[in-house]
Amino acid sequence: MNVGEKVLLEVCDLNVDILKAQGPSRVVHSLSFSLEAGKTLGVVGESGSGKSMTATAIMGILPDVAVASGKILYKGINLLTATSAERRKLSGSEIGFIFQEPMSALHPTMTIGEQMIRPMRMHLGLSKKQARDRASDLLDLVGIPPTRGVQGSYVHQLSGGMRQRVMIAMSISCNPALLIADEPTTALDATIQKQILDLLLKLRDDLDLALILISHDLGLVSQYTDDVVVMLDGYEMEQGATQEVIANPKSGYTQGLLEAAPRLGRQPHRLPVIDKSIYSKVTI
Ligand SMILES: Nc1ncnc2c1ncn2[C@@H]1O[C@H](COP(=O)(O)OP(=O)(O)OP(=O)(O)O)[C@@H](O)[C@H]1O
Ligand SMILES: [Mg+2]
Repeated sequence: MNVGEKVLLEVCDLNVDILKAQGPSRVVHSLSFSLEAGKTLGVVGESGSGKSMTATAIMGILPDVAVASGKILYKGINLLTATSAERRKLSGSEIGFIFQEPMSALHPTMTIGEQMIRPMRMHLGLSKKQARDRASDLLDLVGIPPTRGVQGSYVHQLSGGMRQRVMIAMSISCNPALLIADEPTTALDATIQKQILDLLLKLRDDLDLALILISHDLGLVSQYTDDVVVMLDGYEMEQGATQEVIANPKSGYTQGLLEAAPRLGRQPHRLPVIDKSIYSKVTI
């Protein structure tokens, strides 16, 4: 990937360590990639490959047991060394986040409306009424008309698809330039998955957002992204322009993922077994 003038996010040599009694254990190894304004980057890898750790490191919401090192430059500011005030401002408004599991990300005893207006009041300085009106417009934008009365509902009262729509509305509420969607559709059935992805892409285009789309599904990511990073066990296996990676995968691991993705037009006679041991724990 060329680092051009419009680079919004640059991740350089990112490591994430989990602190354990017996010493740190590294779950993201020297990862680097960059993302330009308005572009979409896919981060693909199987469970445990370090996708969420990478995403939460960017967002500044790593679990307490995890520590990030290296550089995460957002508009040239290193988020890993920024003051907490700078960090709060950026991660609360300029960078939006869609969590893998909206049920655990949304507050169980606050109404959807209350949860939505809080960041808008804090970051955009809106009055209660202005924030409520904006929440209503945002919900409408993600396909939930005001007549549904969702602002007065609690998360447990909503379906999975509705919850993810609410998360998306919240993630764009403070006009972010970058949106990180961490497996936004894993908990949903196929029809709703497609609706949610189409919604995300429409918002990306309409609002001119840079998007990081995280998934374990290379076939899906290949349809929606400009560039892709393939990860395994915390290591980058390969990265590049998505169409080039698909047409000419350099890593055997990526080839295995492609062969396992029938929607890309290559029907496997049987599901390939990927021998991870030959790719893991190597510095490439
Ligand atoms: N809160 C935590 N405490 C300790 N280890 C963790 C924690 N969260 C994740 N890990 C470990 O960090 C590694 C990377 O996990 P991560 O959640 O980033 O994977 P992932 O690629 O997002 O997987 P998935 O597709 O299942 O969401 C894994 O080995 C995981 O066990
Ligand atoms: Mg994850």
